[in-house]
Amino acid sequence: MARVTTLELKRKKEAGEPITMLTAYDYPFAQMVDEAGVDIILVGDSLGMVVLGYDSTLPVTQEDMLRHTAAVARGTKRAMVVADMPFMTYQVSPEQALENAGQLVKEAGAHAVKLEGGDPVLDTIRKIVDAGIPVMGHLGLTPQSIHKLGGYRVQGREKETAERLKREAKALEEAGCFSMVLEAVPSWLAKEVTGAVSVPTIGIGAGLHCDGQVLVLHDVLGIFQEFKPKFVKRYANLREEALKALREYVKEVQEGKFPTAEYSYE
Ligand code: KIV
Repeated sequence: MARVTTLELKRKKEAGEPITMLTAYDYPFAQMVDEAGVDIILVGDSLGMVVLGYDSTLPVTQEDMLRHTAAVARGTKRAMVVADMPFMTYQVSPEQALENAGQLVKEAGAHAVKLEGGDPVLDTIRKIVDAGIPVMGHLGLTPQSIHKLGGYRVQGREKETAERLKREAKALEEAGCFSMVLEAVPSWLAKEVTGAVSVPTIGIGAGLHCDGQVLVLHDVLGIFQEFKPKFVKRYANLREEALKALREYVKEVQEGKFPTAEYSYE
């Protein structure tokens, strides 16, 4: 089975074939996401919130990403694996960023890395791409800047911020990004950006006109239910299903109904 590549993603954009992307953070879910036919698996730093129990992505470390990316890489055969670069692993200098990106590829098996931001990270993107590592950009709501943005809110509604986002999207393309995530931006703006750049845009809360869509796996499956942004569609309610099974196990053990002979050795 051929692995999805940056060239295949570009071909999909040009052919108007929607690109699918989901997050995953461990081996069993990576296997399922891969088997479902998803093109790109993002080992997102949303890991911090939906798996590690933090209230933002900021505490996620390089070590966290290395461990989880390696597990995901072991679970995939077809999907491209993109690893998020955690907060403060690429902001200090392009050299620091290249070392950390290199580790995610060389030690954990990622095929590409993702980092957030526009103008401030252009030199960093050039440095990583020049070393042969594909970079996915991320504009709009950039969760690592949550304190600067003042909350998880739609970006680019005002003329000035919309113009900046369009300019930065072109700049990311010119710096060498093979693709970019557009998070929580109005549909009309995502449509304009998608038409203006030659690399695929992947939307999350950015409407139907992006070249592809991404959601957080634990939102899609209804595992993470602490809050639900407007753009999240739950395709299952696994939290409820799992709770039902776990409560049944507890009850059966407490009532002496498990294990029966079927589950015991003679
Ligand atoms: O960390 C993440 O899961 C992400 C997606 C929301 C795009 O960056």
